[in-house]
Amino acid sequence: MEKTVFIVDDEPAIAKLLTYWVKDKWGYKVKTFPNGELMLQKIGENPDLILLDIMLPGLNGLEVLKQVKQYNALIPIIILSAQGRIEIALDALRFGAFDYFPKPIDTQRLEPAIKNAIKNYDLSRELENLRENVQQSYKFEKIVSNDGKMQDVFRLMTKILNSDITVLIHGESGTGKELIARAIHYNGIRKDKPFIIINCASIPRELLESELFGHEKGSFTGAHQRKIGKFELASNGTIFLDEVGELEMSLQAKLLRVIQEKEFERIGGNELIKSDVRILSATNRDLKKAVETKEFREDLFYRLNSFPINIPPLRSRRGDILTLAAHFLEVFTQKIGKPITGFSKKSLKLMYDYDWPGNVREMENAIERCVLLCETGTIEVDDFPSHLRLTREDSKYDSSSPFFQDDVIVPFEKIKEESLRHALRITKGNILAAAKKLKLSRATIYRLFEKYKIDHKEFEK
Ligand SMILES: Nc1ncnc2c1ncn2[C@@H]1O[C@H](COP(=O)(O)OP(=O)(O)OP(=O)(O)O)[C@@H](O)[C@H]1O
Ligand SMILES: [Mg+2]
Repeated sequence: MEKTVFIVDDEPAIAKLLTYWVKDKWGYKVKTFPNGELMLQKIGENPDLILLDIMLPGLNGLEVLKQVKQYNALIPIIILSAQGRIEIALDALRFGAFDYFPKPIDTQRLEPAIKNAIKNYDLSRELENLRENVQQSYKFEKIVSNDGKMQDVFRLMTKILNSDITVLIHGESGTGKELIARAIHYNGIRKDKPFIIINCASIPRELLESELFGHEKGSFTGAHQRKIGKFELASNGTIFLDEVGELEMSLQAKLLRVIQEKEFERIGGNELIKSDVRILSATNRDLKKAVETKEFREDLFYRLNSFPINIPPLRSRRGDILTLAAHFLEVFTQKIGKPITGFSKKSLKLMYDYDWPGNVREMENAIERCVLLCETGTIEVDDFPSHLRLTREDSKYDSSSPFFQDDVIVPFEKIKEESLRHALRITKGNILAAAKKLKLSRATIYRLFEKYKIDHKEFEK
């Protein structure tokens, strides 16, 4: 995107010269102002950088600087000043100017300074956004759950919020690993510091090392600029290594070193950088197995896994299915602005019976789609994606129809399951009564609940 530079100088010749370089030569959009007041009137246009003469008619440069900073402390300002006014320039730096240039201006040095300042500004805006967004939307309370297994996860989490222990979050795709990682950061002592995510699987190998640790200018072909790595960006905050199981061996070694020594170097650099960063990581792989097959370093595994958190897949915490469905229905009806009152009974059953291989993310997407498609004020089965209605391996057995018809052969297991469901329907979920009718012990019934993932409460209505 085109960047805008404001130039404030009362001498037309200088303003013209600067415009020549900044606009015509270096390609920025430029606006010039003969004094500070006029520039401040336009500050709402949010320039990406201000070149500010210090000796101005009316408000002097220092005052202008302060007012800009009050409006937005992040906008970079480069001060221009006549020779010999070094004290004023130093003052300006103290009040937050990015850099200082004596006149006549050394344009060779000015170009990289402008570039650098704007890049810095972009970065801090990005961080700022990240922090704001996240602080609004990822409070602990925003995690919806009423399943006992998730309550255990939360109980575990609260124990480690105010520590620096490394946490390895394990769970299938879409179970909420990132959400948990955010919650740990934003409810802990580092919450006002950066939370930086890096996805180890989505960045090409050759780039990952420099993403993590940064590099110095010229350290390899293509390294035109110094790059600050994520570990440095996360300073005093938290770094979240997503899909950490995909890290290749050489980087595993380097990561281990950072954890142990708490310092590192940028690629091609020899300055040791202290690292005070909390490390959270996540994987959907079985890392223990990866250790056995020598794809993952054992020592690193133990370092990352000081505190394991395992998020169960949605299908094994069925207690969450309808709670989450209700939550997402509310989220999307609000977002999309459609008055939908709820789910039809059949669609509730559909969701409850489905296995959700893509876990919470799949449900979130499905319900967004339902809300978009729904025409009746109630979500119906037909509003769901068709695979939800079809993929259940046993969906061909309609439980309301007699078992033995035509050439369909029903597996024994299925008959047992259906018999149990039938008994629960008749007894309205009364386990004792169902056990009696089925001539089974209560313990057996509970075992079968586990096996077939049945929740008897579903039948109580
Ligand atoms: N308990 C929950 N309550 C509310 N929203 C949830 C919950 N769990 C997950 N989500 C939502 O589901 C989506 C997937 O969660 P998240 O990205 O944290 O999963 P993940 O395990 O990191 O997935 P992946 O492995 O695909 O990266 C997100 O939009 C998240 O907000
Ligand atoms: Mg994720």
